[in-house]
Parts: sequence; C-alpha cells; structure tokens
Amino acid sequence: MENFLKKIDYNNIPNHVAVIMDGNGRWAEKRGKLRTYGYEYAITSVKETLIASQILKIPYITLYVFSSENWKRPKKELDYLINLFTFKLESYLEEINKKNIKTIVIGNIKKFPTILQKVLLSLIETTKNNTSGTLVLALSYSSKDEILRATKNIAKKIYNKQFNIEDINYSFFQKHLYTKNLPDVDLIIRTSGEKRISNFLLWQSAYAELYFTNIFWPDFRRKDFFEAIISFQKRKRRFGKIK
Ligand code: IPE
Ligand code: IPE
Ligand code: MG
Repeated sequence: MENFLKKIDYNNIPNHVAVIMDGNGRWAEKRGKLRTYGYEYAITSVKETLIASQILKIPYITLYVFSSENWKRPKKELDYLINLFTFKLESYLEEINKKNIKTIVIGNIKKFPTILQKVLLSLIETTKNNTSGTLVLALSYSSKDEILRATKNIAKKIYNKQFNIEDINYSFFQKHLYTKNLPDVDLIIRTSGEKRISNFLLWQSAYAELYFTNIFWPDFRRKDFFEAIISFQKRKRRFGKIK
C-alpha cells in the first residue's frame, strides 16, 4: 500500500473520477453463487473506493450504480437491488455524514419506489453542507436521457422567450444537465474487463482519460484505485493542443 501511495503525485490529483462498477454478477457466478451474492460484496469495494478518494483528497467521485438500461433485467434481480440500495444507503447515511462527504444523486430517481426516493432525499439533505468531497450516485441514469431532458428544458425556455437561441453555449447547456454543479470528468475507471462507456456521462467525459481493469468490482480495493490514479498521472492530456 505504502508503495502505491509513494508513487502518487499529490500535485496532479484528478478533480473528478467516475467509476463504472461492473462485474458483480460474473464474480458471483464464477464462485457458483447467485448473481446477487456479488452485489453484497460490491459494498466493500464502494467503501474502499471512498476511503481511497478521501486519502487522495479527490474532490468529486461519481459511482455508476444503476443505469436506465438496467431496468430491463429480471424482476427478481431488480427487487434485490432496490432493497439493497434502500437498506444499505439508509444504514450508511451516518457513516457517510461522519466522513463529511456531501452526496448528490443523478438520474431519473422517480422510477424507484417512494421509500428509496425518501432515503435518497434524506441522504442529500443530511449531507448537503459537508465539505470533504462530493459523492455522486448515478441511479437510473442514462446519459442520452440526460441530454434529451436538457434539450427539452432549453427548448421550453426558448419557446417561452426566457432566453434566445444565442444564449445556448457549453456552460448554458451544462447547467441543464443533472450534473449542473459538477466539473467535467477527468478519469473514468471501469472494472470487469469490458471496454465501453455504457451510456455514462457522455457530455461530461468528452476529454476524460479512460482506465480499464480486468478486476471484477467485488475484488476492487483501494490499491487498485491508487493504481488507476498512478496510470492517470502518466497520461499526457493535450485537449487538442500541441503541448
Ligand atoms: C454492475 O454489475 C452493477 C449493476 C448493473 C447494478 P453487473 O450486474 O453488470 O455484473 P456483470 O457485469 O453481469 O458481471
Ligand atoms: C454498466 O454496467 C452500468 C453499471 C455499472 C451500473 P452494465 O453491466 O449494465 O453494462 P453493459 O450492459 O455490460 O454495457
Ligand atoms: Mg455488467
């Protein structure tokens, strides 16, 4: 662990890291268990990731917890996941608050049962003044939906003559996304060996670095997070320029 920490450049810490926590079902199946067994173990990896990002003082960390497309999974799995989100978030609220982490949620949470929506709102409300990093939970999230929703809201405002077409620029558009108060993503980490973005933060990660690891999410530990950061720090980010 010490070795990993020694390799980190504390002057080049990414501002916003987003994680696609993939491979829970396959991790469980590999052990001859039901897919849901993997979700129980996923929680340790979430905690490890939060500890690691607090050690490095990363200001924003976004976790892809549940995509809009995930609604197409079997009802049994959905019921299990919704229960897990509800009870785990409720029981970790105090822990998150004690760590002084502010939590926000992006996605169409109205699709969840009221009880989960209430837990989420109370998590957001309780932690809203916390100052030691922001945890963003992407729940029932689809980047394409987010962009369409922003476009419709902007169209309405133009139609109602609140704004002119000329007012639409990057910053104006960005203010209509779920992520309106968040900086762009610097690094996306995806576990489980899949190399795709799966409808995650398409606008926000226009210039993000991508890091893929074969580790399944339930096996992901803080050292793996540090490794991703070390890899990020070796990248030359040019943003289209030469130097
Ligand atoms: C990602 O893990 C978490 C959710 C979608 C809730 P998966 O459930 O996709 O696990 P694999 O990819 O099938 O192994
Ligand atoms: C992406 O994983 C969504 C989350 C990790 C929450 P999926 O397992 O749903 O993505 P695909 O279907 O393999 O692209
Ligand atoms: Mg998956």
